[in-house]
Amino acid sequence: MKIICLLGSPRPKGNSSTLAKYFCDAAEKLGATVQTFALNKLSYRGCQACMACKTNLEKCILKDDLEPVLDSIRDADVLVLSTPVYFADLTAQLKAFVDRTYSYLVPNFFNNPNPSRLAPGKKLVFIQTQGQPNEKLFADIFPRNEAFFKWYGFKDNHLIRGCGVRNPEDILAKGEVLKQAEEVARKIMG
Ligand SMILES: Cc1cc2nc3c(=O)[nH]c(=O)nc-3n(C[C@H](O)[C@H](O)[C@H](O)COP(=O)(O)O)c2cc1C
Repeated sequence: MKIICLLGSPRPKGNSSTLAKYFCDAAEKLGATVQTFALNKLSYRGCQACMACKTNLEKCILKDDLEPVLDSIRDADVLVLSTPVYFADLTAQLKAFVDRTYSYLVPNFFNNPNPSRLAPGKKLVFIQTQGQPNEKLFADIFPRNEAFFKWYGFKDNHLIRGCGVRNPEDILAKGEVLKQAEEVARKIMG
């Protein structure tokens, strides 16, 4: 089981990265191999809408630090996306990655019953942390983004959420969320 983990926070030891590591460590103990990319350390642009991936190329034409990330997901079984909530949404670092996944769609994706260039059956683990303790707020972020990954053939997707966490170590006091991360790892690996 190959897991690719993308850290969307600029804080390497922040809440979302800590939670992602917690999940990945648990999955590793159960036999998974994990490759983690800290997006904030990479240099890349968002989608340029050049349509190269819809005309003469099967992949994104941009040669930047996101190229190996996008490539690595092609033979992965599980994709972990972790992000703090910034202004009610993903961080810019993660959003730019999501936009570049446009290259996973075939040219006639709107009317093709098989719109994705990715093999079906990959799993998504979405990790979200937010300062706001009210979990009704920002509950839309996961389903909005999951919809695109379903389109790419992802199924058996999971959300792990830490609410009311601000300082980097706050997540460590959320025993039930850490437990959920371990449970999701067991489900994914089971
Ligand atoms: C620029 C910025 C915008 C933020 N916007 C929100 C927000 O809209 N809603 C919220 O609940 N928390 C917001 N926060 C708080 C973070 O989501 C919260 O501290 C999170 O746990 C940080 O995750 P990290 O430690 O992984 O970086 C914001 C923080 C920053 C720095």
